[in-house]
Amino acid sequence: MLNEELSLQYDRNPIETIKTRLKSPESILEKLHCKNYPVTVDSIEQNLNDIAGVRVICAFPSDIYQLEEAFLKQDNIRLVERKDYIANPKSNGYRSLHLIVEIPIFLHDHKRLMRVEVQFRTISMDWICILTTALFSRSKNSTRMRSFSLGAMICRKDTAPYFLPMRKVRPSRNSKPPGAMKSLVESPEGGSQFQSKANLSSPSM
Ligand code: GTP
Ligand code: MG
Repeated sequence: MLNEELSLQYDRNPIETIKTRLKSPESILEKLHCKNYPVTVDSIEQNLNDIAGVRVICAFPSDIYQLEEAFLKQDNIRLVERKDYIANPKSNGYRSLHLIVEIPIFLHDHKRLMRVEVQFRTISMDWICILTTALFSRSKNSTRMRSFSLGAMICRKDTAPYFLPMRKVRPSRNSKPPGAMKSLVESPEGGSQFQSKANLSSPSM
């Protein structure tokens, strides 16, 4: 609704893309096990805030805060928790604004409140997030790669080419990628394999 209203109201809609997802039963179980929560429906309702997730991608950081304000103004939405990883980026460089909100859903005979995790980020934050997730998951066995922060990856001569936007995700001929990067680059499909992997491995919410 907000998306449609903003498109009509302004020349430039601050919302570039909206992605939604419902957590799969496998990831619900994995998270319950991982956090040592009981595997029951009550426990899912009490402990998991991100069964339903929405990711809103904007062009500029200022769009994010404007959207947040407009979103939270709606009187059927209650803010439960807010984490601003844009003002306070994580040590690995992760940036996004996370809101856990409670919204009413109307079933045939009653109303229920449901918690939803809404992540706001810019296109470049999203792009970096997808890329780092792909690189880190690709280098699970490499403690060396895992110890790199985003900042280090951007600055290192050998990994910097991956972070040059608007270029093919492929290093220059002269760069010598280390460990996991090397196998990635030298795989038969080269950069294109990485590109599709990056698309597929959009981080779970
Ligand atoms: P979870 O228990 O994992 O949901 O984390 P949390 O309850 O502490 O909430 P937080 O707001 O920190 O993270 C919520 C979700 O954001 C996570 O489930 C991830 O999908 C995503 N997220 C958080 N930190 C990172 C990060 O460093 N990198 C990536 N790629 N995603 C992240
Ligand atoms: Mg969470």
